[in-house]
Amino acid sequence: MKSIAIIYGSTTDNTKDAADLIAKKLADYSPVLKDIADVSPEEFLEPDVLILGCPTWSIGELQDDWDTFYPDIKKLDLKGKTVALFGMGDSSGYPDTFADAIGTLYDEFAKTGCTFVGEVSTDGYSFDDSTALRDGKFVGLPLDNDNESNLTDSRVGAWVNSLKQYLD
Ligand SMILES: Cc1cc2nc3c(=O)[nH]c(=O)nc-3n(C[C@H](O)[C@H](O)[C@H](O)COP(=O)(O)O)c2cc1C
Repeated sequence: MKSIAIIYGSTTDNTKDAADLIAKKLADYSPVLKDIADVSPEEFLEPDVLILGCPTWSIGELQDDWDTFYPDIKKLDLKGKTVALFGMGDSSGYPDTFADAIGTLYDEFAKTGCTFVGEVSTDGYSFDDSTALRDGKFVGLPLDNDNESNLTDSRVGAWVNSLKQYLD
């Protein structure tokens, strides 16, 4: 069984709650849960699998604590690590920049040599544009507690199940 760290940033706790939910659904794997505000770059090198959460703030921008960490990302050597991304957004209030933070992290972590898993179909989402799209799919799991909190549990459940093939 692989070692897992769930690392999230969160300003108003929606992404924190999603990280808790992911940890609960992966309890059999004993994941470590960390706030990016308290994480050093070296801690990214410890687990086999990194599940990283960042909400989108300030019209398409990273959440503040991730923003602070951002310059250090490209210095990491994550070859051999598996990375899955998730994040909160507001598809109704910010339909042109929905969950853009997932796309920003994807581009930056791509420089580390990691392997991404956990892409998600756009089926069931209503938005106009997102930088988290590659070839018509989200490169991670977007969640929207502002408008669709009733879908969060099932979206997280389906996503976590899709990740399990990479965790044994
Ligand atoms: C000022 C402001 C700007 C925002 N900008 C975006 C945005 O560009 N795209 C998006 O999808 N969501 C945007 N959001 C919505 C947040 O991502 C959403 O409320 C999220 O749940 C916050 O996550 P957190 O509680 O983990 O910090 C914005 C919210 C606010 C208040």
